[in-house]
Amino acid sequence: MNILQKNSNGCPYLILAPMEGVGDQCFRKAMASIGGFNEAVRDFLRVPSNAHVQSLAIRYQANEITPIPLAAQIMGSDIQLMGDMAREMAIRGAPRIDLNCGCPSNTVTGRGAGSSLLKDPDHLYKVAHAMVNAVEIPVTAKLRSGFDDISLFKENLLAAQESGIRYLTLHPRTKVEGYGPPARWDLIAEAKSLLKIPVVGNGDILTVDDALNMLKITQCDALMIGRGSIINPFIFHQIQAHFDGKHYERSWNGLQSYFNAYLDEMPPEMSEKTKVGKLKQLMNFLFKIDPVLLEQRPAILRFANHNVEAFLDEALPLLKAHFE
Ligand SMILES: Cc1cc2nc3c(=O)[nH]c(=O)nc-3n(C[C@H](O)[C@H](O)[C@H](O)COP(=O)(O)O)c2cc1C
Repeated sequence: MNILQKNSNGCPYLILAPMEGVGDQCFRKAMASIGGFNEAVRDFLRVPSNAHVQSLAIRYQANEITPIPLAAQIMGSDIQLMGDMAREMAIRGAPRIDLNCGCPSNTVTGRGAGSSLLKDPDHLYKVAHAMVNAVEIPVTAKLRSGFDDISLFKENLLAAQESGIRYLTLHPRTKVEGYGPPARWDLIAEAKSLLKIPVVGNGDILTVDDALNMLKITQCDALMIGRGSIINPFIFHQIQAHFDGKHYERSWNGLQSYFNAYLDEMPPEMSEKTKVGKLKQLMNFLFKIDPVLLEQRPAILRFANHNVEAFLDEALPLLKAHFE
């Protein structure tokens, strides 16, 4: 199986990053309505030490954004349970299973999972290896560059490779750095020259130029984009268009279908107030690097209406004005 294959015009394989919370099922459906990426990764399923894996696993729906593949990501530190959970994910049709070695949340790291795995390369190896042994489908891992610092950076990369995973994604910030300093793309380049398995570059790709620079600086095999896709849902198409020698203009129709898909996915039992809150959260990101749209942001976020239809009646015309 060709993994992380470039397209015929040399565009790298493009992956929509897992983003717990804001990047939920509504967001993935909305992104899928626009498209342009090869694969998405679901936000993590936490596997606590008392987990009943079958009950947990039903939260993963492999066909959520079909025909786009949706990888499953699991997070935990219990070797046996993580193997069992990987098997459940495979049974449920996951095209690949990713091990989370990056979540910085204290409740998670306090139990040895997420970025805590980066404190102990040997344990990281054992968890990843148990997953690899449990399934036939590709297992991968997503790492930060370290926990407190990067002193175990190389050991962690080699431990991950040694476990038998097919490739890894690197978000080159430590747990302690959170999202503060710029992502250290030089570490992605280092990982690339150290490892035999492919490396997916991730962190701070907000524009097509960022994507091209990441490829040039790191020589990474594929790109993963998170926040850049909330800010600009058309970014994947724009990257593809660059490799096709074309220009892809964001469109109002595209944005409308994006919002429609997002709204359709909201559970009917969710209160109107929560729905408006989610839309505001999304719109808060959407304007972040566009100087014109940025001007509308305070007005939209101030709308006090808790009815979705009324909120959209007020908010969408402000957005539309900038697409004409
Ligand atoms: C709100 C939010 C939630 C996230 N949830 C996850 C997650 O569930 N699993 C994971 O591996 N990374 C998670 N991440 C990290 C992103 O996948 C990505 O590595 C990081 O945001 C850097 O990439 P970006 O600059 O393209 O956003 C999350 C990031 C954000 C902002």
